[in-house]
Formats: sequence, C-alpha cells, structure tokens
Amino acid sequence: MSIAGKRVLLIISGGIAAYKSLDLIRRLRERGASVGCVLTRGGAQFVTPLSVSALAGEAVHDDLFALTDDSGMGHIQLSRQADLVVVAPASADLLAKMAAGLADDLASTLLLASDKPVLVAPAMNSQMWRHAATQANLATLRGRGVRQVGPAAGDLACGEVGEGRLAGVPAILSAIETILGAPQPLAGRRALVTSGPTFEPIDPVRYIGNRSSGKQGHAIAAALARLGAEVTLISGPVALADPAGVRTVRVETAREMLAAAKAALPADIAVCAAAVADWQVVNALPQKRKKEAGAPPPVIELAANPDILATLAAPGPLRPALVVGFAAETENLREHAAAKLARKGCDLIVANDVSPASGTFGGDHNSVVLVSATGAEPWPRLDKDEVAARLAAWIAAALTEGDKI
Ligand code: CTP
Repeated sequence: MSIAGKRVLLIISGGIAAYKSLDLIRRLRERGASVGCVLTRGGAQFVTPLSVSALAGEAVHDDLFALTDDSGMGHIQLSRQADLVVVAPASADLLAKMAAGLADDLASTLLLASDKPVLVAPAMNSQMWRHAATQANLATLRGRGVRQVGPAAGDLACGEVGEGRLAGVPAILSAIETILGAPQPLAGRRALVTSGPTFEPIDPVRYIGNRSSGKQGHAIAAALARLGAEVTLISGPVALADPAGVRTVRVETAREMLAAAKAALPADIAVCAAAVADWQVVNALPQKRKKEAGAPPPVIELAANPDILATLAAPGPLRPALVVGFAAETENLREHAAAKLARKGCDLIVANDVSPASGTFGGDHNSVVLVSATGAEPWPRLDKDEVAARLAAWIAAALTEGDKI
C-alpha cells in the first residue's frame, strides 16, 4: 500500500517517547510521504526543533504566534494541506485538550480546526493511562472518529512496568498506511443515516422515549464517511459526540426527523437505524401538567407517527438507490424481518436481537442478520463499530457491483 505523495502532519507532544517520532519521520519520508511537524511546548523539552526539521526537510512549527508573521500558512492551512494528522506521542494532557475542544496552543488549535482524519498514538505512565479521565477522553475521541494505535505494554521510562508505551514505529506506520491507503468506494455518493431514539413530548418536561443509545447508527454514519460518502446523520437525543467527517443534524421528535431526512435528499443511500417512537402525543400541553388533588390520572392520547423508512423507500424520483432499515426484534427474527422488508419497501433489513438477554440496547455489541430479497445472511456477534464497517462495505459493494440486491 503506497503512501508516496501523501502529506502527514505529525504533532509531537511531551514524553520521553518523543525521540521515536524522529524515526517515524524518517520512515515516512523513505516511503515518499512529506511530513509537516508541530512540536508542542512539552515535545520541545524532549526533541529539538533542529533535529525534527533536519529529518523532515522543512521548518518545524512550534508556536501559534509565530504563524501570525506568516499570513499564507495559518493553523487552518497547516491542517488542511495534510491528508492525515498524526499525534505521536500523544500525551494525557493533549488527549484531554482534544476531548475538551481546547485551542490554547498551535497543536490543539489545528486539531480543532482540522477536517482530516486524526490518528493518536498515546504514551504515558501506566497509572495515567488507566485513569478514568484518560479512558473517558479516549472514548470521546474514538466516538468522534479519531483512530488510535497502541499503547503497548512493557518497561516504562518512569521505571514502572505496564501499559502506556508508545506503539512501535512499525505499528504506527502500518496504521498510517491503512488510513491513507484505504479505498474510498463511496466517494461522490451521498448518504443519510437516522440514529438514536425520538422523544415525543407530553408537556415541556415529560416525554415518551426509548432506550436506544444511537451507538449503532452513529457508527454506521462514521463508517460510510470513512469510505468516502458525504454523510448527513440525523440524530435523536443521544449522549454521543458528533462523529468526525459527518454533517450531524440533531432532532427530537419523529416529525422533525422526517423533515430533516427529506431535507437531506437527494441521496444515494439511506440507512434508518433510529428507534423512532411509533406514536406521538396528540394532547401534549404547552405547560407542565399539574396533579390535582382527587382528580383521576390524565389520559394520554396517541396518534401514529410518520414512518420515515417507508416514506424514504416509497417509489419516486427522490428514492435513494439503496434504502436500509433495521428491525429490532425479541423473537422470530428472520420471519419478522422478511415481513418488514416487504411492508416498508426497503432493499435490506438489518435485523437485530434486542431481547433483554442480548444486551444490544446500550451495549457495545450486536448480533445481526441481513435480510434482503436474495435471502438471509447471519453475521457473528460483533462490536457495533465492526458491524458498521461491514455494513458500509456491503453497501459499497451493492452500489458499485449491483450484486447484492
Ligand atoms: N422506522 C422509521 N420510522 C418509524 C418507525 C420505524 O423510520 N416511524 C424505521 C426504523 O428506523 C427501522 C425500521 O423502521 O429501520 C423498523 O423499525 P421497528 O421499530 O423495528 O419496527 P416497526 O416498524 O415499529 O414495527 P414493529 O413495531 O411491528 O416491530
């Protein structure tokens, strides 16, 4: 896989492992990539700008304010000119800044301004690595589409033994090659993805909702974007960060979700992963319902919500070429999914088992069966990110080869 001609922006933050980034620069250049380098203040304590610039063959950037002298090369351009931003080593401090969206020095500012894929290679003391704050920061970053390589386990510079060593240069190189060399079969295609629950208000403080976390739908949006699609993610209320490289539209009710989905047309691909509430409250009140002593409990009147999947799948000039629905079932998975495929008019149903024993709702894994007109394809129990990656690849194959549907 060649990375010749690609440009990597390498951010070197503080840590004894910073010296290994010098070798990384050499290896990248040997492979024909150009490397722009940014040294954080911490990074400059461990490697000198002179050694970095000598290996990179170009000037090092190490101060936000130096850029004001150079009007053509602000932090925005610095990150935009790169194909990939690599943070190696990524200190606990810089990871925390990235998770919080801080922009108080050159490295954090261009990470916030970047629209390119980001790969982090964490390196730190094992206690710092295991700390809940670091793990939460990385989970946030991964949720936004940031890729991670390492850390490895072994002897640490602080004298302790454990996890926290910078991944080896070969492992970092191979992660870079995977990202930069990845094919983009969905380049030029537009996709819309619905995700999460919808909330149907009863009054300004109460609503009818469900337990969908949005993890699967958000992962699918990110996976389609990684294959080059221009993705609009229409998300109900979720506690997840907006994925990187995706346009996210936040909605609350099913009607808002339908309006946002229609606004995202025309599209080549529609994936309806949202757990849309089946009913809306007709007698919702603009003020909070009050308890009245001795009065009977209120009666909530419901009316059917629009079916977003069926609306998108209906024949017409704006129907996406591939419409994918999900079926959340607790029993007779395949039969119910096949019936849903016909009823909704879509091309594929991803049927998943949401019985309480499956742990699917809110969990990190999913057991799915793909049901289309050509039959059923059961997949093994997989991480939701893995389900998303495989589904995006399935969609790309179906659209480009036309062999699935
Ligand atoms: N869906 C939708 N709009 C709705 C209801 C469902 O877009 N108002 C979509 C979901 O995003 C999912 C598929 O339809 O892709 C199946 O949803 P599900 O709730 O499992 O099925 P229902 O249609 O509600 O049928 P049932 O309640 O009989 O299982």
